[in-house]
Amino acid sequence: MFLHFLLVLHAVLTILVFIQAQAQQDDQSGFTSIDCGLPENSNYTEKSTGINYISDADFVDTGVSKSISPAERITHQQQLHFVRSFPNGVRNCYRINVNIGTEYLIRATFYYGNYDSLNKPPQFELHFGVNLWDTVKFPNASRTIMSEIIYIPSKDYIQPCLVNTGKGTPFISAIELRTLNNKTYIGDSKDSDKLVLSLSMRYDLGSITNLEYRYKDDIYDRIWSPYELSSDWRRLNTSLNNDDLFQDRYKPPSIVLSTAVTPANASSPLHFEWDVNNVNDQYYVYIHLYDFEEPAANETRTFNITVNGKLLYAPVIPRYPVAHTIFSTAPLSPAKRYEVSLSMIENSTLPPILNAIEVYKVKDFSQSETQQDDVGTVTNIKNVYGVARNWQGDPCVPAKYMWEGLNCSFNGLNPPRIISLNLSSSGLTGKIQYSISELTMLQYLDLSNNSLNGPLPVFLNKLKSLKVLNVAKNKLTGLVPPELLDRSRTDSLSLSVDDNPGLRITESSRKKNLSISLIASFSALNVVILFISLGFWMFRRKRATSTNSKDRVSMKLKHQAFSYIEIINITDNFKTIIGEGGFGKVYLGVLQNHTQVAVKILSSSSTQGYKEFQSEAQLLLIVHHRNLVSLIGFCDEGEMKALIYEYMANGNLQQCLLVGKTNILKWNERLNIAIDTARGSDYLHNGCKPPIMHRDLKPANILLDENMDAKISDFGLSRAFGSDIDSHISTRPAGTLGYADPEFQRTGNTNKKNDVYSFGIVLFVLITGRQAIVREAGQNIHILEWVSPIIKGGDIQNVVDSKLEGEFSIGSALKVVEIAMSCISPNFTERPDISQILAELKESLSLDMVQRHGERENNIIEWNSSQFQSVTAPFPR
Ligand SMILES: *[C@@H]1O[C@H](CO)[C@@H](O)[C@H](O)[C@H]1NC(C)=O
Ligand SMILES: *[C@@H]1O[C@H](CO)[C@@H](O)[C@H](O)[C@H]1NC(C)=O
Ligand SMILES: *[C@@H]1O[C@H](CO)[C@@H](O)[C@H](O)[C@H]1NC(C)=O
Ligand SMILES: *[C@@H]1O[C@H](CO)[C@@H](O)[C@H](O)[C@H]1NC(C)=O
Ligand SMILES: *[C@@H]1O[C@H](CO)[C@@H](O)[C@H](O)[C@H]1NC(C)=O
Ligand SMILES: *[C@@H]1O[C@H](CO)[C@@H](O)[C@H](O)[C@H]1NC(C)=O
Ligand SMILES: *[C@@H]1O[C@H](CO)[C@@H](O)[C@H](O)[C@H]1NC(C)=O
Ligand SMILES: *[C@@H]1O[C@H](CO)[C@@H](O)[C@H](O)[C@H]1NC(C)=O
Ligand SMILES: *[C@@H]1O[C@H](CO)[C@@H](O)[C@H](O)[C@H]1NC(C)=O
Ligand SMILES: *[C@@H]1O[C@H](CO)[C@@H](O)[C@H](O)[C@H]1NC(C)=O
Repeated sequence: MFLHFLLVLHAVLTILVFIQAQAQQDDQSGFTSIDCGLPENSNYTEKSTGINYISDADFVDTGVSKSISPAERITHQQQLHFVRSFPNGVRNCYRINVNIGTEYLIRATFYYGNYDSLNKPPQFELHFGVNLWDTVKFPNASRTIMSEIIYIPSKDYIQPCLVNTGKGTPFISAIELRTLNNKTYIGDSKDSDKLVLSLSMRYDLGSITNLEYRYKDDIYDRIWSPYELSSDWRRLNTSLNNDDLFQDRYKPPSIVLSTAVTPANASSPLHFEWDVNNVNDQYYVYIHLYDFEEPAANETRTFNITVNGKLLYAPVIPRYPVAHTIFSTAPLSPAKRYEVSLSMIENSTLPPILNAIEVYKVKDFSQSETQQDDVGTVTNIKNVYGVARNWQGDPCVPAKYMWEGLNCSFNGLNPPRIISLNLSSSGLTGKIQYSISELTMLQYLDLSNNSLNGPLPVFLNKLKSLKVLNVAKNKLTGLVPPELLDRSRTDSLSLSVDDNPGLRITESSRKKNLSISLIASFSALNVVILFISLGFWMFRRKRATSTNSKDRVSMKLKHQAFSYIEIINITDNFKTIIGEGGFGKVYLGVLQNHTQVAVKILSSSSTQGYKEFQSEAQLLLIVHHRNLVSLIGFCDEGEMKALIYEYMANGNLQQCLLVGKTNILKWNERLNIAIDTARGSDYLHNGCKPPIMHRDLKPANILLDENMDAKISDFGLSRAFGSDIDSHISTRPAGTLGYADPEFQRTGNTNKKNDVYSFGIVLFVLITGRQAIVREAGQNIHILEWVSPIIKGGDIQNVVDSKLEGEFSIGSALKVVEIAMSCISPNFTERPDISQILAELKESLSLDMVQRHGERENNIIEWNSSQFQSVTAPFPR
């Protein structure tokens, strides 16, 4: 089938939704709200929305601030009171920092308000970097124009640009960025790596108030407009607040979901239509449904949704009180007119409903930008020399707006390259910058008629394609490098060096040799001196650091030191072994105050052991978190090296889950363990500076206390990135077979995502109750080899540990499988951050609670294999 569709039915426990809504209500952490033209360093909170706006001064170098006419101010929100207008230059750009890979809603707003007293709104273009975003025109001077896209940046900044097309001075009122849930819109499509969506419409159907809703009703600050009630429709409404609602991940506002339309004639279908200008445009649709009340036992509300007669989804049963979003994962088939129809199917007794609808158009942002090294280099040149030109946005594209003084080559799909740099007569001073030699495709370089001094550097010879080099009329000194002279003699280079009084082309060869040998003998002496002093310095430095680090360790460890004898007493002469860690056995111990402890002894046979021991001690002395095992003390007396930890009554996850225990871990206990482990890892990755990688996450290193709360242990292989803790263990390959990231094993590149992979395997172990590697018929079967065919077959019930005897909610299991899949993606950039995993695991837990305690029908989540294909997309293909 060409299109695959997916019904989202993610329900979340009521109370969580409430808390979340409360917490998020004032949370503008994902918002960047820029009031263009607002004076520098000022900011304010807009009264009707509570949104905090800041000045645009930090995001743009050009343009002037203007304000709209006083009469217009009264009737418009504050972010429209100022505009930034761009009377100079054809293209003027903002540059706003963003997070790579995060899904954003980006909205530009234009309100003319006769700011220039011309009573004539202009028309101009809005560009997104090098691509055309929109043409801004005002059908009527009192209209507010908004242009909105959903976009996942692949660079850490975006550049909205205003382009003067000769129809008046461009201006802009506001730029708003909001981070969305990565798993919605683009994240739910099949083309998530390159899709850009631009808003066509977003309607609240059946509205009673006829008002627009945005933040704070909508936590993502989408703007929902009321849609006029058609004569074939009947309005439905309810009083609904967040407490009543089980939200899905799209989170449309409850006020929007509290009204709906239904066909006036209950047996007719419900239609929603729109026309398009260009039949080649592609559309995505998002339909939000919410049934206000539970149908009586003898009633059902079941319908199918079609677009131009093609099935989008069936059967749709919007079960109270869960919000549903039904969406396309690929563009709708092209047409001039689209008709979405919701038709009651056979035994349904109730007509279809429709609460809200969003339609997006696909934007083509495929024009590639200038090669990034060239952009970086030319930007650097611009900054170093303070080039006073309107050099903004991309240097080469659109070709129409290429930077003055540059020329570029355009070669099919390859990014454009800079081939010519003409900074003649630009008032340049100082030396010729090395960075110029990094514009590796340069053919023409004209630096003539400036005040450049210093030598004509030999590094310019690195420019292999250079055909013209003009440095005439400067203050260069010294010799013209013979390499450049040679090239000019063979006619491959046209070299102009005239009018540089201090620059010489040749010297008599005898004089040249003499000076070279003098320099040589001088430097030989220098080198000897240098070696002596360097050696001395290194010697001193070595002593200094070694004492220093020893001091550091012993000082930190001082207060918790135990002696050899004490260790023997504590462990009752090593009586009870409770485990085996990375570098030795673990014994049960009891302190004098009767606290139980675990004592890990460094085995003398372990060669790497001492380093791991040190590494673990250093780390646990610094890092404390409720989901990391805590260190009570240590012993470092001669051969006896031990670490003393809090005792974890329920041992480790390996023992609890996998080694024939009578108590089966329940599904929610497994989820709690996963959440605790994710929380501990999140602290290591995101709560520590520098971040720490565990590098050996596995069930045996996840300990469980008497309440079954999980704590991560065994930090012997952990590494803090970029700190001095790591240097001594970095050569050892980390991890345990079955859990270690194959990507790391292949490349040796360490990365937080290695832990995420291991965490994914731990999740699969929790889901399936199987070991990571099982020996079957003389072969080692990795858990992924076992699990993936079952998942591909769409058979979720059989993935989950049969020992649970079906005591789990499918929705929750589905979600955990989905999370685990994303963790093991072969492309580690696609693996989520542990913080995101944590958030999603929490959702799975609440899903489980809703579905099993809410006494709704057992399988509130309906799913089929086509839905599942969508869910499993990140799996290795
Ligand atoms: C807003 O301005 C105040 C002072 O005028 C400043 O302390 C505060 O940091 C600003 N807030 C933002 C978000 O820029
Ligand atoms: C979206 O994904 C990016 C990159 O993976 C991540 O940094 C960001 O935190 C995610 N955002 C949300 C809201 O999950
Ligand atoms: C301009 O647009 C506004 C709002 O869309 C509308 O209320 C007004 O009647 C329009 N004015 C004219 C002259 O068309
Ligand atoms: C529906 O809206 C009307 C006002 O238009 C209101 O009087 C009525 O109480 C609402 N119904 C519910 C169930 O809230
Ligand atoms: C309602 O629609 C059905 C089928 O579309 C039609 O047969 C019936 O006459 C309609 N009823 C009214 C009152 O229009
Ligand atoms: C369902 O039952 C109620 C009374 O229990 C009745 O009024 C209603 O007509 C029934 N609906 C259908 C479709 O049978
Ligand atoms: C949708 O339901 C209507 C009414 O039952 C039916 O006539 C139509 O064929 C269905 N469409 C699809 C594509 O299943
Ligand atoms: C609709 O009716 C058919 C038989 O008439 C039955 O098999 C089917 O389960 C019913 N569907 C629903 C959703 O009630
Ligand atoms: C830029 O280079 C192209 C060849 O790559 C040439 O045809 C064009 O004339 C050049 N433009 C300018 C302004 O030098
Ligand atoms: C550089 O620009 C100047 C005018 O600013 C022009 O005279 C000169 O020919 C240009 N050089 C090249 C190599 O195009």
